Amino acid sequence: MIPTLEWTSEGVRFLDQTRLPLEEVYVLATTYQQVAEVITTMVVRGAPAIGVSAAMGLALGVKNSPATTVPALAAEFQTMCRTLAATRPTAVNLFWAIERMKNRFTELASHSGATPASIRIGLIAEARRMYDEDIAACRRMGTHGAALLPRSGGVLTHCNAGALATCGYGTALGVIRSAVEQGHQIHVYADETRPFLQGARLTAWELMHDGIPTTVICDNMAASLMRQGKIQAVIVGADRIAANGDVANKIGTYGVAVLAKEHGIPFFVAAPWSTIDLKTATGDSIPIEKRPEIEVTHHGGKQLTPHGVGIENPAFDVTPAKYVTAIITERGVLRPPYSDSLQERETAASVPATG
Ligand code: MRU
Repeated sequence: MIPTLEWTSEGVRFLDQTRLPLEEVYVLATTYQQVAEVITTMVVRGAPAIGVSAAMGLALGVKNSPATTVPALAAEFQTMCRTLAATRPTAVNLFWAIERMKNRFTELASHSGATPASIRIGLIAEARRMYDEDIAACRRMGTHGAALLPRSGGVLTHCNAGALATCGYGTALGVIRSAVEQGHQIHVYADETRPFLQGARLTAWELMHDGIPTTVICDNMAASLMRQGKIQAVIVGADRIAANGDVANKIGTYGVAVLAKEHGIPFFVAAPWSTIDLKTATGDSIPIEKRPEIEVTHHGGKQLTPHGVGIENPAFDVTPAKYVTAIITERGVLRPPYSDSLQERETAASVPATG
């Protein structure tokens, strides 16, 4: 399995995604501040991977803390949470993970006889549990979603929603992997995904690693390929899904969704439940991260644009729910209207099973 991130006795080890595909280099973060830096600089990226990285960062921070009392550890923990929450604003998995670690801290601290040592052990275990759960969720998404993909044909994806964006297996690429394991003859078309090139560098690298036939295309080629009948389905991941089914994902996703609708091609979104944000009513309220201009003006250290020209670099866009054929989650496949299906699935999961 591709080792995107891993808890080790020395710290959290990350496969440096800024160096792929040409170099397979690992970065060891030994402090929570270093984990925050690794998330901001996109050494690790992809919503589910960002969430679990933050949880591991908090576990690391608590492990390293010299605090000798629970209140002192709790005060430091608040600072750690603030630092990690300030890394990337769009992926709701980040805030979900921090919230879950906060809740676990409170639970552990409320035990009679709780000590900093017992909290450290509990939080490390919680972060590692989130890692395992993420992989299991990806596998379940794969099982639920595989049948939606064509038995044979082209599947377009945008950005990287694979093992590299999760703790392993992937969301959109997990569904593709699962379909291929079930015998579908799929050819993946990977949008290169300007400006950070997650498709060209990461999706291509990871699918080739698994021997899944893949062709990289420039983002502006998708329309033409659709018109030529080369694309039978589109599948992407998500950074946040609002209560009405609007989907925030890598910049360019919205355009692909509009093109898919125009060509009568199904547009699927695969995401774990930690990406669903029922507290945000619509996509209009999703905060969109703005990345540094240099990601657009330069490539490989070389300047591409004239000095002083205006630059926009929003990292994500919002695809309105009306373009989304289905949302694939570990809880099953959801269909429109998403305001109903998302809420129903949430309620079903929170009601304990009887009998
Ligand atoms: O800026 P990135 O590379 O973190 O953006 C990643 C994406 O947009 C992914 O599609 C999304 O996080 C889903 S990953 C399973």
